[in-house]
Amino acid sequence: MATRKPRAALPPPSHRERVLAALHEEIRACQRCPLWATRTQAVPGVGPADARVMLVGEAPGRQEDLKGEPFVGTAGSSLDTLLASIDLTRGEVYITNVVKSRPFVGPPPGRNRPPSTNEIQACRGWLDEQVRIIRPQVVVAMGRIALEYVLPGRRISEVHGTPQRQDARTILPLFHPAAALHRQALRDVLKQDFLVLGRLLRRQERPQPGRK
Ligand code: URA
Repeated sequence: MATRKPRAALPPPSHRERVLAALHEEIRACQRCPLWATRTQAVPGVGPADARVMLVGEAPGRQEDLKGEPFVGTAGSSLDTLLASIDLTRGEVYITNVVKSRPFVGPPPGRNRPPSTNEIQACRGWLDEQVRIIRPQVVVAMGRIALEYVLPGRRISEVHGTPQRQDARTILPLFHPAAALHRQALRDVLKQDFLVLGRLLRRQERPQPGRK
């Protein structure tokens, strides 16, 4: 009988991975706003606990609610293409949303809607925690809702594609990939703005002092 090669043992999870996994569990059990009652599941986020880049969208849509992962619908394919354009894969970045449960209108499954101010307020503490644990070098705010979280009062049409320094990190505001899906002009702008992310990352090559 052919002997099977023993599989190499996976390294044990780092402290940061364990803390992030525990946070994801708390988010999955969250009942801070009424969306918990209508969701299939909460969508905490995906990606490495030590990601250099955190991409922040608005809220899960129907596909995300079903799968438990952010950006897996049509906006997600567009995001994958944009990441590939700067030689990044989904596995190298941390992807999440400001709101972790799906807002919708109408009888289930209903239509996606933007999150309300109360839903954003109830949820924003989770994103604060994710940023604190992951400590990304660059936070990419995709669309109006994410921009309001990182740079309150700013307009996406004015700041998109322009990196903003905030404490130890860089904020890069971008149009939302879903907004660009049906508007060729926006799509072109988004492609150009993504190149800015590529340049930022090349400039801030690892290792960063004090980052473990
Ligand atoms: N999917 C998400 O996870 N977030 C968005 O903002 C849009 C689609």
